[in-house]
Amino acid sequence: MRLKTGISGLDPLIDGGFPDPSIILVHGPPGAGKSIFSLQYLMYGAVQGEKGLYVTTLSEKFGWMVRFMSDFEFFKRSYFEEELIKYEDISELIKTESSSIIRRLGEVVAKTMPKRIVIDPINPLREYMPNYREFLFDLVEMLKKWGATVLITAETDYKIDDEKYMADGIIELIMKAEGEVIRRYVRVVKMRGTNHTLAIHPLSITDAGISVLRANF
Ligand SMILES: Nc1ncnc2c1ncn2[C@@H]1O[C@H](COP(=O)(O)OP(=O)(O)O)[C@@H](O)[C@H]1O
Ligand SMILES: [Mg+2]
Repeated sequence: MRLKTGISGLDPLIDGGFPDPSIILVHGPPGAGKSIFSLQYLMYGAVQGEKGLYVTTLSEKFGWMVRFMSDFEFFKRSYFEEELIKYEDISELIKTESSSIIRRLGEVVAKTMPKRIVIDPINPLREYMPNYREFLFDLVEMLKKWGATVLITAETDYKIDDEKYMADGIIELIMKAEGEVIRRYVRVVKMRGTNHTLAIHPLSITDAGISVLRANF
């Protein structure tokens, strides 16, 4: 089964969408478009009645996120109000036992029953957690049992080997200095059960959201 990503131009590169269910890592530097990618993914599902769960670790108030996302044509605040997409801020749990984070996420997943889940970004959880690897393993196990398709975003500036290792798919968002400008690219680094190339494709962000353009090489 394939789940359409909602990112224009991406599905044809990965046999029609993300393997479903699966755990997908979306990584890139700050400003690469990870949060836009995540919300576009959830919004696309919500249009078709699929429930979504957006988990942030950044202590970002709902209104703050809305302010930055509402310029995008795909963004519909009403989906949150109708609880088609649930916004969950777990930042206050960051310094607690890892088991309490798993428990909270397990509860919110059972309550909202999402088809699409996003954790954006995962890195802050590592900072206070002595047993991060174990936590990640438990988290992935819990999410796999649930059977949703999960996007986990990560900042490339940190060490993210554990995240790469446990992911069924890896999408890399790239920002590259070329002369005076920085250009955006995307690469599918890994996608289990999928015949994909490792080509680097240009990527654009406009009011319509993120689109993958065809590589011309
Ligand atoms: N309406 C827009 N049109 C074009 N680019 C935009 C628009 N809104 C935001 N951006 C770009 O997206 C970036 C933020 O993307 P975001 O998903 O928040 O990054 P990340 O989560 O990877 O740090 C901004 O720095 C800006 O370059
Ligand atoms: Mg972000």
